[in-house]
This record gives sequence, structure tokens and C-alpha cells, in this order.
Amino acid sequence: MNAAVLLGGPGAGKGTLAGILCERSGWVHVSTGDILRDAIRKKTDVGLKARQFMDAGELVPDQVILELIDARIKEGQQDGLFLFDGFPRTVEQAAGLEHICRKHGVTLSHVFCLNVDRSVLIQRLSGRRICRTCGAVYHVVNMPPVRDGVCDVDGDELIQRPDDREEAVLNRLEVYQKQTAPLISWYREKGLLRDIDAGGAVEQTVSAVDTILSEQPGS
Ligand code: AP5
Repeated sequence: MNAAVLLGGPGAGKGTLAGILCERSGWVHVSTGDILRDAIRKKTDVGLKARQFMDAGELVPDQVILELIDARIKEGQQDGLFLFDGFPRTVEQAAGLEHICRKHGVTLSHVFCLNVDRSVLIQRLSGRRICRTCGAVYHVVNMPPVRDGVCDVDGDELIQRPDDREEAVLNRLEVYQKQTAPLISWYREKGLLRDIDAGGAVEQTVSAVDTILSEQPGS
């Protein structure tokens, strides 16, 4: 069994890209952000613990995240490739992922680093809207719903994520630089990192990933 990681700042398009790749290929989309938001909606212990960190744009403690990932891999073991979106986010999480992969016989084959200018990240986050029920993601300009403010999937109301407000966005960008960007050199040194220019249209990002996936090993 294989796994791949989507690495990139807040708003880089990890969730959007993962959604397209997984729908097309039957991969298992593992988004720690989505798992945590679901836990908050259901008011579970993890959700109650995570909420204050998320709303402020801070990272949820590593141990909480690693337990979620371990459980998710165990439950999805018969499925195809795991595509991690927003995980790992610290060197401790990356080391924990290595341990979890060894334990479950999973090989991490690719880490795609989605590179997007800071000004574009801010534009994407400030215009993002999500369905308050199913979590479907839109953008007021780039990917608008058919009817303004209404989810195409279930017709429910679209809202702004609490951590997409300006103050939290600026903090998330800082947290990314301090805690997550060191993973770029961590994975580059392991020979797993592939840079992707993700500042253009989604189709271009998908095509860049496809080109890398179609390469023969060692080519
Ligand atoms: P998480 O949900 O993972 O947030 P994030 O990493 O900040 O990423 P985003 O979801 O904001 O952006 P994205 O890259 O998925 O972009 P999207 O596709 O939506 O985490 C939220 C919080 O949970 C964290 O702050 C932390 O508190 C906690 N957390 C989660 N994982 C954790 C972990 N491992 N450890 C600790 N804490 C954790 O796109 C953004 C917008 O742009 C959308 O509106 C979309 O429509 C639009 N868009 C996307 N691609 C394009 C494109 N190519 N062109 C134009 N528009 C585009």
C-alpha cells in the first residue's frame, strides 16, 4: 500500500486537488482539517479539544493528530493509495507518520509541495465559502456555486470558515512558515519532494501531478 502527501500553505489548493485526484482514481482522501471540522460538528472529545486551536489558526497538538491518522489508516487498509492533505504539518508529525507507515506496511512514495504566492493564498482564503452541512468548498470568484450563497450539493447555506477571517489567516501563514515549511527540506533530503507550481488553474496543477505520477521510477 502506498501513500502520498500534499504539502502547501493555507489556501494552496490541497483540498481541491485531493478531491479531484481521489474522485478520479479511487484514492483515499485523508484531510486532517476535514476530520477535525467533522469532530467539532459532532462535538466529540477531539472536536472540543481542537476547536480553540483551529479558530485561532494554531496547530492542534501532534499526539491528537497522530492518533487520528493511525486510526484512519487501520480502518482504510483494504483501499488504494492514501492521499494526506494537511498532514504532516510538523517534523514530529512526519516522524510519527514514518512510524505509522512501518507499522501498517504503507510506503510513502511522493510528497507534492504546492507552491503559491502569499498574495494569491490570501485572495483564495478570503473568498472561500464552505457548506455548513457537507463541507463542500467554493470560492466567490474562482469557483462560485450556481446560486449565490447556496451549496450545489445539498442546497444548504454557505458560510465562511472561522479561521478564514483575516486575523486567523495571517496567523496560519506564520504558523505554516515556522512549523510546516521545515518539512520541505526534510522531505527533499529523503528524495521524496516534488515541487508543483499551484498558482494557476486547478487543471494545470492536476496535470503537473499526473506528469510526475506517470514517470518511471528512476527516470
Ligand atoms: P486545514 O483544513 O488543513 O487548512 P489549511 O492547511 O490551512 O488548508 P486550507 O483548507 O485552508 O486550504 P487548502 O490548501 O485545502 O485549499 P482549498 O483547496 O480549500 O486545517 C485547518 C486547521 O486545522 C489548521 O489551522 C489546524 O488548526 C488544524 N489542523 C489540520 N491539520 C492539522 C495537523 N496535521 N496538525 C495540526 N493541526 C491541524 O482552496 C482554497 C480556496 O481556493 C477555495 O475557495 C478554492 O475553491 C480555491 N482554489 C483552490 N485551488 C484553486 C486554483 N487552482 N485556482 C483558483 N482557486 C483555487
